[in-house]
Amino acid sequence: DAADECLLWSEAQKYYANILNPFSPLVKNKIDEIVALNLPIDIIATSHGAIWRDNPLQIVEKYYEWSQDYQEDQITIAYDTMWEGTMKIAHQIASDISRLSPETRVKVFNIAKTDKNDIMTEVFKSKAIAVGSPTVGNNILSSVGGWLEFLTELKFKNKKAAVFGCYGWSGESTKILRSRLIDAGFDVVEPEIRCNWNPDAKVLAGTEEIAAALNER
Ligand SMILES: Cc1cc2nc3c(=O)[nH]c(=O)nc-3n(C[C@H](O)[C@H](O)[C@H](O)COP(=O)(O)O)c2cc1C
Repeated sequence: DAADECLLWSEAQKYYANILNPFSPLVKNKIDEIVALNLPIDIIATSHGAIWRDNPLQIVEKYYEWSQDYQEDQITIAYDTMWEGTMKIAHQIASDISRLSPETRVKVFNIAKTDKNDIMTEVFKSKAIAVGSPTVGNNILSSVGGWLEFLTELKFKNKKAAVFGCYGWSGESTKILRSRLIDAGFDVVEPEIRCNWNPDAKVLAGTEEIAAALNER
C-alpha cells in the first residue's frame, strides 16, 4: 500500500511472466490448497519482494488468474533484421492486424534493442505472436535464436504464432523459426512471409493472411 500501484502491478506481472510462468500448474494447485484451508490472511510478507498489507489476497487472486494460460486481446510481433527488410514486414503485419481488428492491441519489438524480459511480459499478455528473422549463414540471427531459447523455457501455452523473414539465396529462416516455435509450445499458423531480399508492395500485400490467421479464434 506504500508502493506506486501502477509500477507494483506491472512489476508483479513481469515477475510472474519471466520467473513463474513455467510453474503455473504448481501455482494454481498451491493456491487451491491454501484457499481450501480457509485461513484468515492478514499479511503476506515473503522473504523478498513486496509486503502485502492492504487486501493481501489481491496478489493471490492475480496469480490465480495468471496461472491459467492468461491472455488479453493483444498480439506481439518480435523480430531482428540486418537491412530492415524483415522490420518492414513486421510493421506491415502490425498495421494489418490493427485494420482487421481495431480493438486488438498490437506491439512490435526489435529483439536486439528491447530488454528480453520486457518483450516476454508482452508475450505473456498476448493471444498470439509473430516472430521474424532474416536468413544468416543458413540459420536465423543469433539474437533471435537466444530469444527463442528463453521463450521455450517459459513454457507458454494456448498461444498462436506466425513466422516471417527475408533471405538472399537459401532462405532457411522461416522453416527454423517454425520448428523452434512448435518446440516452444506455440500453435504455428500456416501462412508465412518468406521474402527474397527486400519486400516490395506485392510481398507486403501478403501479410494480411498472417494477420487474419493470428486473429482467428
Ligand atoms: C552475413 C550474411 C549472411 C547471410 N547468409 C545467408 C544465407 O545463408 N542464406 C540466405 O538465403 N541469405 C543469406 N543472407 C542474405 C540475407 O538474408 C538478405 O540480405 C536479407 O534480405 C536480409 O534481410 P533483412 O533486410 O531483414 O536484414 C546473408 C546476409 C548476410 C549479411
